[in-house]
Amino acid sequence: MRILTGIQASGKLHIGNYFGAMKQMIQLQEEHELYTFIANYHSLTSSNDSALLRQYTYDAAIDYLSLGLDPTKATFWVQSDVPEVLELYWILSKYTPMGLLERAHSYKDKVAKNIPASHALFSYPVLMAADILLLDSQKVPVGKDQIQHIEITRDIATKFNNEYGEIFTLPEYIVEDDIATIVGIDGAKMSKSYGNTIDIFMEEKTLQKRCNKIITSSTPLGEPLDFATCNVYAIASLFLDKAGKKELQARYKSGLEGYGHFKKYLKELIWNEFESAREKREYYLNAPDRVEEILQDGAAKVRVKAKAKLAMLKDAVGLR
Ligand code: ADP
Ligand code: TRP
Repeated sequence: MRILTGIQASGKLHIGNYFGAMKQMIQLQEEHELYTFIANYHSLTSSNDSALLRQYTYDAAIDYLSLGLDPTKATFWVQSDVPEVLELYWILSKYTPMGLLERAHSYKDKVAKNIPASHALFSYPVLMAADILLLDSQKVPVGKDQIQHIEITRDIATKFNNEYGEIFTLPEYIVEDDIATIVGIDGAKMSKSYGNTIDIFMEEKTLQKRCNKIITSSTPLGEPLDFATCNVYAIASLFLDKAGKKELQARYKSGLEGYGHFKKYLKELIWNEFESAREKREYYLNAPDRVEEILQDGAAKVRVKAKAKLAMLKDAVGLR
C-alpha cells in the first residue's frame, strides 16, 4: 500500500503529538510504502518569518529521524525540494471549481484566527491535492480537521479523470478514531496553543520542573489517591503496559506515596522512553550533512516519479 503523510512543522514536539500521531505514523514504514514530507510550501501560507520557517523545517527533519523515521524504509523529503508539485498544482487549479474551495472549513477557520486571507491560503487544498495525486497515493493518514481536504482531492481527481481517463488514483483518508486525547499539565487537551505541553526533547531538569507543575488534587500525603482523576496518572499510563498500570494504581491506592513521588516517577518514564531518540537526535544535530543527504536522496527519488507523472499529464492536457 502506498501511504503519504504530510507534516506541518510548527516548533517543538510534545507528548500529545507523539502518542496522538507520530508514533502510529512512523510505525507504518514497517509494512507499507511510506512517503513522508515536510509541507513547507503549506507552512508559507501562515508564516511571515523566514528564519523561523527554515528552522522549523530543519527541526522537524531532525525530530522525525530521531523518533524513528527510517530513511532506508520510508522516503522522506522537504516539499519545496520537489518543485514539480507546483506545476501539478496549477494544472489541478483548472479542475477546481471555486465553490469547492469556498466551502473549505480550514480556510474560514484560519481567516477567523487572523491569518491574512491570501490566494495561497485559499488554494491550500489544491496544493494538498497535488501532493497526494502526484505520487498516486492510496491512503493518507490525517487528523479529523483534514478530512475535507482529502474529499476535495477526490473531487478534483474525479473531475480530471472524467475528462482524460483514469489518470489519477483516488486516495482514501485514514483517521484514527480510537486515539484518546492526551491531557496537558492542566488537564485540558495538550496543545502548543494552550501552553500546557510536555515537550519530548526537554532537558532533564526542565522536564522534572514541568512534571512538578502538573495540576493535582489537594489530598494530603498519607491518604489514598484517586488515579482515575489524576493528570499525572493519565500521562504516565501512556508509557505503561497493563501490568505497569496495575502496579501504579496500587501505589496510588496504598496511601504510602504522594504526588511528588508520582511526578518523579513520571519524569523517569518520559526520560527513559525517549533515551534512544535523544541519542539519535544528538547524532543528527552534529551531522547536518547527513540530514541534508537524507532529505536530498528522498527528494531525488520523488522527483523521478513526479517527472514521469507530470510528463504524462502534460501530454494529456496539451502542454509541451
Ligand atoms: P498542537 O495542538 O500542539 O498545535 P498540532 O495541531 O500541531 O498540535 O497536532 C499535530 C498532530 O498531533 C495532530 O495529528 C494531532 O491530532 C496530534 N495531537 C496534538 N495534540 C494532541 C493531543 N493532546 N492528543 C492527541 N493527539 C494530539
Ligand atoms: N495540511 C496538512 C496538515 O495541516 C499537511 C499536508 C500538506 C498534508 N500536504 C499534505 C497531509 C498531503 C497529507 C497529505 O496537517
